[in-house]
Amino acid sequence: MKKIFVKELEKGEFEDIFIVNRIKKKERKDGGFFYELYISDKTGEMKGYVFDNIAEFEKKLKEGVYQVKGEARELYGEIVFTLKELKKARDVEIKDLFPSSPREIDRMVNNLENIITDIQNPHLKKLLDYFFNDPEIRENFINAPAAKKMHHAYIGGLLEHTLNVVEIAESLAESLSRMYSGLSKDILITGALLHDIGKIKTYEYRAGIDISDKGRLLDHVYFSLIMVQEKIDKISDFPENLKLRILHMIASHHGEKSMGALTEPMTEEALLLHFADYIDTLMFKFKRARENSKEGARWSEYQRDLQRFIFLGGEEE
Ligand SMILES: [Fe+2]
Ligand SMILES: [Fe+2]
Repeated sequence: MKKIFVKELEKGEFEDIFIVNRIKKKERKDGGFFYELYISDKTGEMKGYVFDNIAEFEKKLKEGVYQVKGEARELYGEIVFTLKELKKARDVEIKDLFPSSPREIDRMVNNLENIITDIQNPHLKKLLDYFFNDPEIRENFINAPAAKKMHHAYIGGLLEHTLNVVEIAESLAESLSRMYSGLSKDILITGALLHDIGKIKTYEYRAGIDISDKGRLLDHVYFSLIMVQEKIDKISDFPENLKLRILHMIASHHGEKSMGALTEPMTEEALLLHFADYIDTLMFKFKRARENSKEGARWSEYQRDLQRFIFLGGEEE
């Protein structure tokens, strides 16, 4: 288990598991080379150097997770380290290395359990139990990010995003059910809980949260579909119509084919899921733009993924 974290590192020798990244080979003033690199974990990052045994390190210095031995010292008022040794890391806990959701994980898990308890339809309840009571899936779901960069890109991000989507979908359904009929709350919530489940197979953790080869080649919509299909097929009396409605929600949750949906939403539940998903993703991006802006700024920096600036308001003149 990891005991030493970057934020607490003081002068002296240390050895523990860290992410090694941003490796750069640099020229020395007196000829020859040295390496500059960073180690990081969930608490932050620290700059370091390799001055000795360059030829030795040259062969194995690659971005990744390692057991790092180093010596920290002060340089111009900042703590930096000299790399002494890199070893293969064992018993890596990704929670120790990557930043986590700002929301408390246990509370979110509790919330998830309450949502599942409220499902009335026995087939859907069984389906959700197959997912969230499976220790491996559960663990992966709790730890997964919702994206590499775009939104909720941290440990617990998928859980946080999923709970948001359920809540948004539920409140939309509540208002809409006073004006329109034809909505099944159980189907809506089940589809919302499972819409991004395939993301537990989409990411890998090396020097950062990254999309795996299979994730990039097949995408999370594919994984969500086959995972849900596989579990449904294990439930002998699962109604065919219900199966199609749930799979359709996953297939269409990105709303449009140009956005990665296989089909456009064709049921009320699929339509609401799509908008709930879209709202949460955009609200997250607005929030991030606000948080990354300087205090008192009237406008955010240009947000490339949103293709717009965000107006932050400020005091009325
Ligand atoms: Fe998605
Ligand atoms: Fe989503």
